[in-house]
Amino acid sequence: MIFETHAHYDDESFDEDRRELLLSLPDNGIGYVINVGADLAGCRETLRLTEEYPFVYGAVGVHPSETAELDDAGLAWLREQCARDKIVAVGEIGLDYHQAEPERAVQKRWFERQMETARETGLPVIIHSRDAARDTLDILHALRAEEIGGVIHCFSYTKEIAREYLDMDFYFGIGGVVTFGNAKKLREAVQYIPMDRILLETDSPYLSPEPYRGRRNSSLHLPYVAEAIAALKNIPREEVEAATAQNALRLFRKIPARG
Ligand code: NI
Repeated sequence: MIFETHAHYDDESFDEDRRELLLSLPDNGIGYVINVGADLAGCRETLRLTEEYPFVYGAVGVHPSETAELDDAGLAWLREQCARDKIVAVGEIGLDYHQAEPERAVQKRWFERQMETARETGLPVIIHSRDAARDTLDILHALRAEEIGGVIHCFSYTKEIAREYLDMDFYFGIGGVVTFGNAKKLREAVQYIPMDRILLETDSPYLSPEPYRGRRNSSLHLPYVAEAIAALKNIPREEVEAATAQNALRLFRKIPARG
């Protein structure tokens, strides 16, 4: 059974076939999906998806690139949603210095405040960090993130940075990038990260694995990611799928395990 820990099925690229695609997932071995909000509208759609599909859970949060839309009322609304049974994490939140906007001070402020929301509501966090390795870790250390717990999604840094996340007992979201020809650094990190810290994710509709690179991604492509990790770890693919699903149920502790 595969646990998909990071998808954006609220994205408009699924407008044509969302229902058909989502309903096909359990028959294809995808037992759980976490739909991750990236802005307030996406969080509202995430709530709707969790109500419609029994196997879909949600994370609510505002992505660093979208934080200009946040204010105290928006944050209060996010906090309220965290009390819902099927909202299991705060995310995706973090820092993205690849984009110039919003300015770094704004991104940091809302990253910190959403981290506090996670602490107050007892939920783990889903972290987005791009071209911002040092500042992300500085904030996580300052806010004692090891007490909150979480996953660094689409991990794209080095083995040395991975060490620091391991010291905080964080998990690592590994997706399609691990199959790319130019991902040598990431493959080294995956070899280094213990199997009990890895989660499977797609970031659908983005980051399709080989042989679908460049096309719309979906959770149906996760076996290619599991296969790539299995090759790096020298274990069967089924073992990767089982271990990562167990890891996800440990981190997203609000989700009841099924027999
Ligand atoms: Ni994402």
